[in-house]
Amino acid sequence: MTIEQTQEYDEALVTLLEAVWGEGYLSPGGPDEIRTIVEGVALGGKSVLDIGCGTGGITRFLADTYRPAHIVGIDIDAGLIRRANERASAAGLAGILSYQTVTPGPLPFADGSFDVVFSKDAMVHIPDKEALFADIHRVLRPGGVVAASDWMSSTEAPFSPEMIYYLEREGLGFGIGSPPRYQAAMAKAGFRDIRFIDRNAWYQPRARREYETLKGPLYDGLAARLGRDFVEHEIEVWRSLAVVVDSGELRPGLFWAEKPAP
Ligand SMILES: C[S@@+](CC[C@H](N)C(=O)[O-])C[C@H]1O[C@@H](n2cnc3c(N)ncnc32)[C@H](O)[C@@H]1O
Repeated sequence: MTIEQTQEYDEALVTLLEAVWGEGYLSPGGPDEIRTIVEGVALGGKSVLDIGCGTGGITRFLADTYRPAHIVGIDIDAGLIRRANERASAAGLAGILSYQTVTPGPLPFADGSFDVVFSKDAMVHIPDKEALFADIHRVLRPGGVVAASDWMSSTEAPFSPEMIYYLEREGLGFGIGSPPRYQAAMAKAGFRDIRFIDRNAWYQPRARREYETLKGPLYDGLAARLGRDFVEHEIEVWRSLAVVVDSGELRPGLFWAEKPAP
């Protein structure tokens, strides 16, 4: 079964996601989760790539907190990149942060351009994990690391009817894969010291809370701005998301890997 990739981060969706997850965040966990992802990763003075940077809240947090030499955020959505640029300038971080709109496919950077490749909840949109990790390996310097989070599945397809229902509502699914699939793709690319942390138990109560918040305190304000139909659709997305998080089929997770130094 093919599930269409239809998720588009348009103005309405970005407004709703930032209302739930915080300004600049199109995924859960906020700064605490970013600290967890980069714990033990040397960032000070380093060159960092953020794949799927969205509106750039994470890059601003990383720049402010860890003072890398430079972070390049890339995204396929020009509207998100425009916002990320505006917010970086407003925050006085334009010297450290730069953003580029990219087309899906090979990363537009020379071999060995980065010390760290970061990504949060964006690789799910990229179906060819083997090509993705081979390319990340290519743009990393020897000794460089990938530190990331993503929406993963407990198994490869075929999925349960509940999972298919959720993925179709969300417009995701084309690229969702299991940790073993990511592990194999990273190993094939030449990474070593590959580690995973499952975040399903961490996210379960959060998903429920987000659903209740959307139905409760956020509802009237968002419905007035974005229309009731849109907000009702997103509430149904969240209800169905909580079902597959509870069942364990949708498994947010973090992972790290290193490109060996010669
Ligand atoms: C769930 S959002 C996460 C954004 C950001 N990382 C965050 O956590 O706030 C996923 C992002 O990946 C971007 N994206 C999708 N396909 C991509 C690709 N092939 N290359 C780069 N970014 C992509 C989307 O436009 C979107 O901004």
